[in-house]
Amino acid sequence: MNAPHRLAINGAHGRMGQQLCALAAADARFELVATCTSATDFAALPAFEVMVDFSAPAGLARALDHCERHGVALVSGTTGLDPDLQQRLDAVARRIALLHAANFSLGVALLAQLVAHAAAALPHWDLEILEAHHSAKRDAPSGTALALGQAAASARGVDFDAVKAIDRRGERVPGSIGFGVLRAGDIVGEHTMLLATRGERIELSHRATDRAIFARGALHAAAWLAGRGAGRYTIGDVLAV
Ligand SMILES: NC(=O)c1ccc[n+]([C@@H]2O[C@H](COP(=O)([O-])OP(=O)(O)OC[C@H]3O[C@@H](n4cnc5c(N)ncnc54)[C@H](OP(=O)(O)O)[C@@H]3O)[C@@H](O)[C@H]2O)c1
Repeated sequence: MNAPHRLAINGAHGRMGQQLCALAAADARFELVATCTSATDFAALPAFEVMVDFSAPAGLARALDHCERHGVALVSGTTGLDPDLQQRLDAVARRIALLHAANFSLGVALLAQLVAHAAAALPHWDLEILEAHHSAKRDAPSGTALALGQAAASARGVDFDAVKAIDRRGERVPGSIGFGVLRAGDIVGEHTMLLATRGERIELSHRATDRAIFARGALHAAAWLAGRGAGRYTIGDVLAV
């Protein structure tokens, strides 16, 4: 077996960070050499090959500076990035291997590819996205549901903003991509794409039952990214096909 990748985790005291530290410590693919918080002096960090960041935009900005300076790979799931930070990701990815994703579920990454394929293969069928989450979730539809709709629209070569139907009232507009939202109990996250025409329909579904999928997906991405050349990679790239 290859030597374990020397790994650093940023945001290590957060909910995701704690889960990442526990999983990485028990994972033979990694040697966890640094756990960073907002109080960490990055200049004093030991050498590592890949950092996993689930912190906050300011934490991601510090991780980008450090990884760029030392030429090491960076996996980040931090959300809430402003346009400047998005641009910085593109700039840094010219120097290091970088993978940022808003959802690190490998199942959702595959679902997005299947949705795009199905939407393009049957361009005149009605396409709707249904999602269910716990009753405390604030946004609706979920970011993942919107990303699936975006993937379907791109695959069909249409403008997502022009075809999305988020608050539908009355009749279905042909070619629209509608969203159905359920909020109940402690549902972790469910997404279904429904593709229908007269007499038949296809449903592609993903159900999350454990929030640890995001930490496991991020570590899978880190093992995949360590040692790769510079570039902006996606979670879809990590899938085996
Ligand atoms: N992509 C995905 O699949 C996915 C899944 C879940 C969550 N997320 C995202 O991941 C991020 C973290 O989520 P969470 O639930 O773990 O949040 P959390 O519990 O609030 O933890 C965030 C941690 O980030 C640290 N932090 C803040 N500023 C920092 C800085 N400048 N440098 C280093 N660390 C800093 C904080 O540490 P201190 O206590 O030291 O300030 C805090 O412990 C959020 O953006 C969330 O939306 C993404």
